[in-house]
Amino acid sequence: MYYGADYYPEHWPRERWATDAQLMQDAGINLVRLAEFSWAKLEPYEGCYDFSWLDEALDLLGKHGIRAILGTPTAAPPAWLCQQYPEIMAVERDGRRVTFGMRRQYCPTNETYRALSKRIVTAMAEHYASHPNVVGWQIDNEFGGHLARCYCPSCLRAFQEWARARYGSLEALNEAWGTVFWSHTYTSWSQIPLPWSTTPVSNPCLELDFWRFASDQWVSYQQEQVNILRALCPEHSITTNFMGFGFQDINYYDLARPLDFVAWDNYPVGTANDPAAAALSHATMRGLKNMSFWVMEQQAGPSGWQTMSRALKPGQIRLWAYQSIAHGADAIVFFRWRSCQFNTEEYWHGILDHDGQPRRRYAEVSQMGQELARLGDRLVGANSPKAVAMVFSYDDSFAFRLQPNAVGFSYPELFLNYFRAFHRLGIPVDVVSPEADLSPYRLVIAPTLYVLHQSWVANLRRYVEDGGTLVIGARSGVKDASNRVVNMPLPGLLRELCGIEVSEYDALGRAVGSAIRFEPGVIESAEVLCPIHTWCDIIDPLEAEVIARYAEEYYAGQPAITRNRFGKGSVVYVGVMGGNQLCGALAAWLSRQAQLRPLLATPEGVEVVARERDGITYLFVLNHTDTEQIIEVPYPCTDLISERRYEGRCPLPAREVLILVAS
Ligand code: GAL
Repeated sequence: MYYGADYYPEHWPRERWATDAQLMQDAGINLVRLAEFSWAKLEPYEGCYDFSWLDEALDLLGKHGIRAILGTPTAAPPAWLCQQYPEIMAVERDGRRVTFGMRRQYCPTNETYRALSKRIVTAMAEHYASHPNVVGWQIDNEFGGHLARCYCPSCLRAFQEWARARYGSLEALNEAWGTVFWSHTYTSWSQIPLPWSTTPVSNPCLELDFWRFASDQWVSYQQEQVNILRALCPEHSITTNFMGFGFQDINYYDLARPLDFVAWDNYPVGTANDPAAAALSHATMRGLKNMSFWVMEQQAGPSGWQTMSRALKPGQIRLWAYQSIAHGADAIVFFRWRSCQFNTEEYWHGILDHDGQPRRRYAEVSQMGQELARLGDRLVGANSPKAVAMVFSYDDSFAFRLQPNAVGFSYPELFLNYFRAFHRLGIPVDVVSPEADLSPYRLVIAPTLYVLHQSWVANLRRYVEDGGTLVIGARSGVKDASNRVVNMPLPGLLRELCGIEVSEYDALGRAVGSAIRFEPGVIESAEVLCPIHTWCDIIDPLEAEVIARYAEEYYAGQPAITRNRFGKGSVVYVGVMGGNQLCGALAAWLSRQAQLRPLLATPEGVEVVARERDGITYLFVLNHTDTEQIIEVPYPCTDLISERRYEGRCPLPAREVLILVAS
């Protein structure tokens, strides 16, 4: 499998390159990503190209058995370009144009920038199409980072055209956006504004469409580069680097569609105590194309721009890289090879320190390099087992940021709480789009489906009719596809499936706590109060049975969670939101109902993940804690890393990893 580093030869004197290549080879590195910010080196003056330095680097690396994925350099337009074509610079929501001095300062809609991008990408693609060491392309770098939505005159015109294409007539648009309110009625397409900050609270219908438009602009900007690379480099694979679950400003399902595979940038140091957080990002990235992926930037050292994260403890680089492989990574590329001596990212450490000396981090990367060389390609393309699917919607992410509904409500937090509960139980979870084929899953959880498209309802209904168990959370079915509130009792189009109506609700907010009590027999300690927060739907359980009731407030005793038998399956409606206790209780109950068993029962902080290929299950056991843990291996296994045998009670040292295969 590919094992590599993000390498910036242009940051170092040529005399150093041979040392770097040798050190990489010794560490088992067989791939580098190159050139994604080097436009100014590749085209120092307009129309004047210089590929000589990159050719030289590629040739040298090739002699050490190291191949390359090339970045198209469009994330960093050079100073000459920004000076010559100031109209390409993006405009912030407050109407101010971005100035030169960082990166990603361009507008993806601007025709001039699109033409300049096409030119440099074409020149690179022509030059490297048949280079024996180039395996593929990373388009641009982290689309949407720093500035996800541009408010420039090009975007204004393009948004008006986008709206015309979507709605066809002004009459339809006015109806969909509810423009009769406050005299917003548009009588010409050119009247449609962007939601600049001078409109402090704009129409949520217009604004959601603007976010969708902005997302579409990145997708279509990327597509222009895909087209060039497909035509000129048919042998090469094409990807871009995504930003995990945490980045939700682009509809990643759309961005992933034309690519060969997804790659993403994984920096788990900030969530080291919550391994479910990185796991959720991996699952989300895997779900974009329902296939394995690459990590294009894997944490290799302490990170930060002005201040630094904590140091990485011995074993953490390797632990987190194996966690990536466990969740579906087919390649690991560390960011970055060597810590940079200058500019914005001086303190974002690489495998080597600033002085270029190999130390502890290099030793750890080398250890893993030798281990992966022994493992070979057996895990490449391996599947992740399918048990639970969680439905994630970018429309909901956009719409909830515009209107959180309750004070402090966070869709990502709600989502992570459910995910963490199953992750803690050792039950595999995929993150899928509302349009995905749900039939492989025993259990499907939609923590909420707020902006609900008619076709999604049909997909869910089919799944339940065929015998699936579906969980639907509060605030589902509230909005139609144009972000208007529906004209029917809640949960709107999901009423029949859920067999309930929401008769009233109470937006508690994040800071206010309340409690529910499960009905006898649902969870072991039925009498214990389970804390909830943020939201209470008071449910009229028309067809459904009651699973939990409110314990407090004027609605004490009223249903809070229900279950409806529908077709061959059932639908659980969760009218409340909560943290680990609520989600943990639900996950335990739901897994029993759906007869889902943990891959392995493990102590807190020990993660268990599986991949499968050619009929073999690879069970990854990862100890994220700082102390030795005891695991219980129920059948004889061999750990592929140490080649030691495991069965029964076995110690697992702090930050250690096993890849168990039945033997
Ligand atoms: C990533 C980005 C890299 C580098 C790194 C450290 O998000 O893709 O180019 O900036 O963060 O800040």
